[in-house]
Amino acid sequence: MKVTVFGIGYVGLVQAAVLAEAGHQVCCVDVNPKRVADLQAGIIPIYEPGLSALVQQGVAQGLLQFTTDGAAGVAFGELQFIAVGTPPDEDGSADLKYVLAVASTIATHMTSPKVVINKSTVPVGTGDKVKAVLTTTLKTRQQDLQFAVVSNPEFLKEGAAVADCQRPDRIILGTDNPWAEKLLRELYMPFNRNHDKIIVMDIRSAELTKYAANCMLATKISFMNEMSNLAELLGADIEQVRHGIGSDPRIGYHFIYPGCGYGGSCFPKDVQALIKTAEQTGYNTQLLKSVEAVNNQQKHKLFGFLQQHFAGDLQGKTIAIWGLSFKPNTDDMREASSRVLMESLWQAGATVQAFDPEAMEETQRIYGSRADLKLVGTKEAALQNADVLVICTEWKSFRSPDFSVLKQQLKQPVIVDGRNLFEPSRLRELGFTYYAIGRGDSVKQF
Ligand code: NAI
Repeated sequence: MKVTVFGIGYVGLVQAAVLAEAGHQVCCVDVNPKRVADLQAGIIPIYEPGLSALVQQGVAQGLLQFTTDGAAGVAFGELQFIAVGTPPDEDGSADLKYVLAVASTIATHMTSPKVVINKSTVPVGTGDKVKAVLTTTLKTRQQDLQFAVVSNPEFLKEGAAVADCQRPDRIILGTDNPWAEKLLRELYMPFNRNHDKIIVMDIRSAELTKYAANCMLATKISFMNEMSNLAELLGADIEQVRHGIGSDPRIGYHFIYPGCGYGGSCFPKDVQALIKTAEQTGYNTQLLKSVEAVNNQQKHKLFGFLQQHFAGDLQGKTIAIWGLSFKPNTDDMREASSRVLMESLWQAGATVQAFDPEAMEETQRIYGSRADLKLVGTKEAALQNADVLVICTEWKSFRSPDFSVLKQQLKQPVIVDGRNLFEPSRLRELGFTYYAIGRGDSVKQF
């Protein structure tokens, strides 16, 4: 089938590459000329395991192409995906200007029937807004062309985006249009094997499903973080509690890891956006507001440990940081906990000496060159002449470090661990002071 994807970010590019792998012809459109030129030259703008090979394969087979030409994109596919960003507005609600701009491009240039599929995460009611743009523009153009608007939210996880798109656990289709449903069932046939993963519902329910999923996941994290803070105060160990509750199948082990707060481009903005959507209906979402508040507080946790350790005086200290991306296997720094930590450290007069396996370029792009940020090429180099080590992201390569090297390099044998990678008793035996999340009185015993 011929498909156009507007927006070549994490969602659009992965979706396009996976559709091309399944044999569909995909034209990707983006307004960012550098992004398009890079992709045309074989440079992949984001890090995602398996993506580079898949994009190269799609291009080599002639199934994947990139352009800035919106009109050409509209002419290409009967199916038109919208996968552009929906960043938060000043008040936290989702900014729909990019989504509606694409709707307008499609309506301005279409000369044949189109199915417009919203893959971006958009507030309930956006389907109606997209329909209104199409209807009004076509009317102005005096064109009576058939179109359908479908909500098809994306559930991929950054860091595992390719695998998630290749083997989705569900395909949500929000539509009441049989023609659109038939075409999308055909498109997704290669991904819908073994058992039917397609769930058809009305557009509003599909739009809310995406927010409900992300808000549920964010709630699980904030709940565990709240429990971890309590565990610390009560002398209990959250890791034992996690095992204890996860064994209940009604709770399960997934997504109940305490840490230094959730980040990324989705959870923070989607929780905020649903709070705003609710407000617009006059409903006060007390639970979601708390989820957000607990997370904002948790992002200051590691800085709090450092302040405690240095008795509030971080001036002139050098803090080694392992892991900058908001989670492993991505270079995405959006809303990363490491940013809250680094910015607090700089304000307190400390220098950051950091290493991340993939997010160094992105960190450099965000913060530019500054004397109090040293980005180094290995995790060992980050330790040199640093006072203490902080772990912000649980990359695999940080899980079994050579603790003797750590002790040699750090001025003080202190690890502040935002991801609970180690056993407190073992680190105590090795002579470290170990601050972790909710690990009882492990710190107090020193
Ligand atoms: P992104 O920011 O990585 O990419 C968006 C792309 O859209 C950019 O390359 C931008 O230049 C392009 N764009 C903006 N306006 C355009 C226009 N008028 N025409 C063509 N291209 C245009 O965004 P990302 O992360 O891919 O997210 C896209 C949507 O998917 C958002 O609504 C997000 O909430 C949702 N989502 C994101 C997930 C993620 O893990 N990143 C997962 C599931 C959903």
